[in-house]
Amino acid sequence: MNWRGVIEHYREFLPVSERTPVITLNEGNTPLIKADRLRDLIDKRIELYLKYEGANPTGSFKDRGMTLAISKAAEEGAQAVICASTGNTAASAAAYAARAGMRAWVLIPEGKVALGKLSQALIHGAGVLEVKGNFDDALAIVKEISQCYPIVLVNSLNPFRIEGQKSGAFEVCDQLGKRAPESHFIPVGNAGTIKAYWQGYREYKEAGRIDSLPRMMGWQAEGAAPIVRGHVIENPETIASAIRIGNPASWDAAVAAARESRGQIDMVSDEEIMEAYRHLAEIEGIFCEPASAAPVAGIIKYSRTKGFDKGDTVVCILTGHGLKDPDRVLHISREPLSLPAEMGAVRKVMGL
Ligand code: F0G
Repeated sequence: MNWRGVIEHYREFLPVSERTPVITLNEGNTPLIKADRLRDLIDKRIELYLKYEGANPTGSFKDRGMTLAISKAAEEGAQAVICASTGNTAASAAAYAARAGMRAWVLIPEGKVALGKLSQALIHGAGVLEVKGNFDDALAIVKEISQCYPIVLVNSLNPFRIEGQKSGAFEVCDQLGKRAPESHFIPVGNAGTIKAYWQGYREYKEAGRIDSLPRMMGWQAEGAAPIVRGHVIENPETIASAIRIGNPASWDAAVAAARESRGQIDMVSDEEIMEAYRHLAEIEGIFCEPASAAPVAGIIKYSRTKGFDKGDTVVCILTGHGLKDPDRVLHISREPLSLPAEMGAVRKVMGL
């Protein structure tokens, strides 16, 4: 099949017309990978699938929403877009804006954005502004700028971002074979993502494409878990920098998604996140960024506490590629051995 991106593939579910210029990098159509080895460690009675969103053009699921947000901005004649970001939205906005010939401005928390994401925003020519504050501070600024000037906000407060992002749920159902999983595990930061996937599942059910809905299982990091704790976190901290957010914009929608689907929003520690991150890489050959490992840690925690039903299909969205945050690996891995360029030395180390 000649895949032409999220807008063309799911056009009938999206607010586009023949007048909408389609700005795409052929995003979407990412692999849904069966993870039997990880499953065997967790609960042999379930089926576990990982949706590898790191395979999107800019390396994260953000491209699904960005293709629509930038296409609609182009339709409206916008010259510039702006966002606050922990990194992935900035990378995606920068790439799609470049393709549309628009100016992108991105506000990021100083010193807290992973190297891969920062390099992407820079190479695509975005105006990258580091603010001496966190994501929540940056979001407040860009919201105000977009209200006062003709610069389109492309954070998930932009409804077109959510509309595009919901395609991730459509794809899960299409790839499972016209059915929804029993549980859908996903990280929660600014909370637009859980809202978008829940909307996607509901729309697919209304359209008769699936018969049932999954429980939405959202995961925050312990040091940045405002929804779980029930109050704003002034100084969120976690190793999973993508979800280092203390006051999510879609807070109420996330709570509603969990409630309506009879799911939950819970949290995992940085240690649990790092353990899941390593496991995925070591036993499944899948390299994701730390925030993406939070719901994997969530699956492990859930199976130990509440437990799945026999035969449950569990899907976990791996939101971003591991190469986004290469420094993280160097912090937790042993350095490569340095040897003379001699067969003997190599053989000795290999035990041959
Ligand atoms: N996973 C990754 C890799 C992310 O980059 C984000 C959010 C999330 C999960 C959570 O999604 O915010 O909709 O709940 N990243 C945003 C950004 C905040 O700026 O790139 P959410």
